[in-house]
Amino acid sequence: MLMQPPRDEIRKVWDERAQAHKEDSRASMPDRFLIDLEIRKLCRRIPHGDAILDIGCANGYTDLKIASRRKVTITGFDNSAAMISEALKALAIAPLSQEVKGRIVFETGDLLSPEIVKKYQPQKFDKAVTKRVLINIPTWEGQQQAIENIYHILPQGKVYIMMESTLQGYEKISRMRERFGIERTKVRWHNKYLDEDRLVPFLKGMFDIEQAVNFSSTYYAGSRVIQPLLLKPFGKEPSYDFILNRLFARLPSLGDCGIQKMFVLRKKRM
Ligand SMILES: C[S@@+](CC[C@H](N)C(=O)[O-])C[C@H]1O[C@@H](n2cnc3c(N)ncnc32)[C@H](O)[C@@H]1O
Repeated sequence: MLMQPPRDEIRKVWDERAQAHKEDSRASMPDRFLIDLEIRKLCRRIPHGDAILDIGCANGYTDLKIASRRKVTITGFDNSAAMISEALKALAIAPLSQEVKGRIVFETGDLLSPEIVKKYQPQKFDKAVTKRVLINIPTWEGQQQAIENIYHILPQGKVYIMMESTLQGYEKISRMRERFGIERTKVRWHNKYLDEDRLVPFLKGMFDIEQAVNFSSTYYAGSRVIQPLLLKPFGKEPSYDFILNRLFARLPSLGDCGIQKMFVLRKKRM
């Protein structure tokens, strides 16, 4: 039987990334064009006036961007105290008005802790968001528990935006790479991509799935397949900062070969 990496080890990864990258987007992931693409897609689903719970907010990079574009209240929590420390520092120096800053809260919290529902349920959020967070929970049982906790935190009829990496997206982009003679990318040991075949039936018990969007498909095809093919004749290695990645991130998303997907989920009225 495969040993699952302990959650403490995973938390250490995020503590270290917070210390290494401070308020930079690379604390969350090295691909800055992809994180900005995620934020643009997320903002489209967030109207002014929303109260948002950002679960696994890391150093708050995404939340500060949302707050600069939308008049919303945001509570972000993360189980890495080092990430929350960086988020608070980033909030203090962010070029936002005091009024906007006053609508943002960052605090330490674990989505899997037994108290989390009691803590956040009374705040009646309009939206809960996870962005590459469930994939840091090393078992499907833990991922299900996390989704159930989010379900209980949200009032009926409110929305959970799940932006997570899926096994199916990973398989599709990997097969495309292989067809062009490029090796699969390695999945990092602390990531467990969601299996849509069991995720979707599980979600349907609690939420209406309003949208399931592969918003990152063109970006992955461009940055993970076209880029290495273009650079190969020059003997160059692909880079997250490749100049054309900026363009790939701006093109409409076609196909279904992006690893990151967005599920817009409305809590069922029982
Ligand atoms: C890949 S980062 C994504 C951060 C942020 N959502 C973003 O999009 O930039 C994953 C974050 O989830 C946090 N995390 C993982 N498991 C968590 C849990 N059980 N409760 C709260 N945060 C968690 C990690 O500490 C880390 O900061």
